[in-house]
Amino acid sequence: MKHLLKMADLSREEIYKILDLADQMKYNQKNGRPHALLEGKSLAMIFAKSSTRTRVSFEVGMWQLGGHALFMLQEDMQHKRGESIEDTANVLSRYVDGIMIRTYSQKEVEELARYSKVPVINGLTDYSHPCQTLADLMTMREYLASLEGRTAAYIGDGNNVCNSLIVGAVKCGMKIRVAHPPGYAPHEDAVRLAGGALTLTHDPREAAAGADVVYTDVWTSMGQDAEKIERLKAFAGYQVNEDIMKLAAPGAIVQHDLPAHKGEEISEETFKKHENEIYDEAENRLHVQKSVMVLLMGKK
Ligand code: CP
Ligand code: NVA
Repeated sequence: MKHLLKMADLSREEIYKILDLADQMKYNQKNGRPHALLEGKSLAMIFAKSSTRTRVSFEVGMWQLGGHALFMLQEDMQHKRGESIEDTANVLSRYVDGIMIRTYSQKEVEELARYSKVPVINGLTDYSHPCQTLADLMTMREYLASLEGRTAAYIGDGNNVCNSLIVGAVKCGMKIRVAHPPGYAPHEDAVRLAGGALTLTHDPREAAAGADVVYTDVWTSMGQDAEKIERLKAFAGYQVNEDIMKLAAPGAIVQHDLPAHKGEEISEETFKKHENEIYDEAENRLHVQKSVMVLLMGKK
């Protein structure tokens, strides 16, 4: 493992290695055990889109590991004025020990990784959100004890979060059912990779029936604001609410990568009932990303 660009690049063994170390990171942090495994190391964080969780969890995570993180807005960088990704990658590699990037195109992240001499971590693109999926898998494992043989239902937009979740869940031996309106299917690569472990449907009730985990994300992702009204119409009927949760397995958990638009993709009531699971999922971004950084940037 040289970079973390998308879930498809990780083997099942690598995913479990990340999750196991993340559990250890969480234990260490909760019990005040020193774990300065990245002392003297720096992480550059490049953001072309907004963030609360990703920014804070990477920055705090780096600090807890004894290292340092730099926040950079992509629009402030010389890349915006024409400097190539090749030069940006080569120069940053002379200063820092890792690069985290949140941007629009997956291709750009892959290109950055091609030229970078230090590990590159994808902090979300329009195609994928692997750090989120790793935190989701960590949280599901905490609540369900094991992932193997479990079923997740994803209800909503076949977006970045959905693509990564499909691949991650299937690699860990889960089944996944995605309910999406016509025209909002997940990416064909994720669908192909998942094979028979994925069911696609337009019926949220079919997806939710007997599921151990019910997952949703916003209907309008960053960069899609011009489509908001059209999307509100298309996704009506795709809300995760108590009617849907009644169909899921007894004790089923709810996951949402956040930020949530309560009253749209999830009802206020269902969010409130399941907020601990959802906030645990957000917290686990910290632990799982510390694990990823140690594995990528730590002593080999
Ligand atoms: N879930 C997630 O990535 O949150 P932010 O957009 O706040 O980073
Ligand atoms: N699908 C959402 C995820 C935000 C973390 C977006 O891309 O805006």
